[in-house]
Amino acid sequence: MRAVVAGVLEWLRVWLGDERFSDSRLIVATHGAMATTPHETPDLAGAAVWGLIRSAQSEHPDRITLTDLEPDPTTPDLTDTLRTVAATRLPQVAVRQGRLLTPHLTRTTPHPNPTPDFGNGTVLITGATGTLGTTLARHLVTHHHIRHLLLLSRSGDTTPKAKELRRELEEHGAHITLTACDITDPTQLADTLATIPHDHPLTAVIHTAGITEDGITTHMTQDQLDRVLRPKIDGAWNLHHQTRHHNLKTFALYSSLAGLLGTPGQANYAAGNAFLDALATHRHTHHQPAVSLAWGLWEETSGISGQLTDTDLRRLNRMGLHPLTTPQALHLLDQALTTNEPVQALTALDTTHLTPHNTHLPTLLHTLTPTPRHQPTTTPTHNTPTQTHPHTTQLADQLADQTPQERERTLTDLVRTTVAHILGHDDPRAIETDRAFQELGFDSLNAVELRNRLNTLSGLRLANTVVFDYPSVTTLAHHLDQQLTHHTPTTHT
Ligand SMILES: NC(=O)c1ccc[n+]([C@@H]2O[C@H](COP(=O)([O-])OP(=O)(O)OC[C@H]3O[C@@H](n4cnc5c(N)ncnc54)[C@H](OP(=O)(O)O)[C@@H]3O)[C@@H](O)[C@H]2O)c1
Repeated sequence: MRAVVAGVLEWLRVWLGDERFSDSRLIVATHGAMATTPHETPDLAGAAVWGLIRSAQSEHPDRITLTDLEPDPTTPDLTDTLRTVAATRLPQVAVRQGRLLTPHLTRTTPHPNPTPDFGNGTVLITGATGTLGTTLARHLVTHHHIRHLLLLSRSGDTTPKAKELRRELEEHGAHITLTACDITDPTQLADTLATIPHDHPLTAVIHTAGITEDGITTHMTQDQLDRVLRPKIDGAWNLHHQTRHHNLKTFALYSSLAGLLGTPGQANYAAGNAFLDALATHRHTHHQPAVSLAWGLWEETSGISGQLTDTDLRRLNRMGLHPLTTPQALHLLDQALTTNEPVQALTALDTTHLTPHNTHLPTLLHTLTPTPRHQPTTTPTHNTPTQTHPHTTQLADQLADQTPQERERTLTDLVRTTVAHILGHDDPRAIETDRAFQELGFDSLNAVELRNRLNTLSGLRLANTVVFDYPSVTTLAHHLDQQLTHHTPTTHT
């Protein structure tokens, strides 16, 4: 599975890096990667590819289409189908019996009395020394009165924090085994599972282990991909495979919204989490206990969330995604473990951000807006008409009657305001126009965001490297002016 994702990343990097393709659209086609009905079992490697590509789509809006074809790879008339899909300009589509289906989120009804079933035996937590793992262990012991816990992480009980956790849980009367185990290593996991006493058999597994190593897709290395996929893919697969003969009541996977939404800068992490979501669905269709918890951000800082910068947090905020407090998250956890749905997105969401015109919203969140931007299409249509983006017309109109000096001022203001917005400055005058973006605090993800916003505002398709090639407000505004003088704007749907 890791090899499939690695292969797709390689192709993607080549395609995105080649300016000859800058005006074309890439269709990434999978077979049966998405479960479009409760009875379909998703292809796990294909599902991980969807996670990877969703992030690439966020970094390169309107350039990549994800298409999930019929599970049977011998489907005839591929070219016609792909042409139909391309014409709709929908970003994510599944094709089933000639119909085009788009993914969407549905709201769940809260359970009045959530009562997760962990069985009477041992509960295994991976990543138990991490922030969310520790919180979970405490919750299980103090709230659900679990008495036998097997806690795993690579560092085991070597850290003072881990020793403190054990002491605290034991004071509540729990029997704690805290073991160093790298769950990506099947032998280590098998040896650890063999230590579980027969009188307290394994009855629940909660997999929270994970790491992040962020970076934009065009610069993501194979090692960076591999390191992040391992605890998600190998770890979860080893747990799935090695616990199949245990009588489990709960098998829960800590996933992330990143896999469903395709967070920019996290293609590796999104792939790993999309795999977890698919594994839960796979188990569900085989009548095995399973739930994938696609968490939004937790308020409490962790090894994973501690990597987020203020700009990252602002980006989440613009989508209406707010951090969950620990009590909120634990309440959602109990709800999710009681609900019979294999994949659940658990987040705090400010619904006032869910408007059709919020250009910061990822595809899937648009499905919660009163009028989704991309209406699900059930009847394939060719030659879907394209519309010019409203901002594009406005800018073109504004520039049309201006002198060269006025154009320069307009475009400098446009770039400066956009940069200020990205960096969280209320006053664009705080941005020095001749200062290099890097010196202003820009990272590669900010550069991607700036290019995308300028593309939307100008209707141009600026090169991936534009912010590096024209590294200040003044030089970039000048480049925009040249491009706008010589190019007809690209149309958007
Ligand atoms: N925090 C959030 O806001 C958030 C949001 C969405 C999803 N999540 C998900 O929640 C889970 C927990 O995240 P966190 O924020 O608590 O992260 P964290 O504080 O960094 O904890 C991660 C844990 O995983 C363990 N681990 C990593 N690789 C391992 C391996 N190969 N084998 C065994 N243990 C391993 C780490 O311990 P060692 O280094 O000692 O192995 C650590 O205990 C992750 O899966 C993450 O994707 C978190």
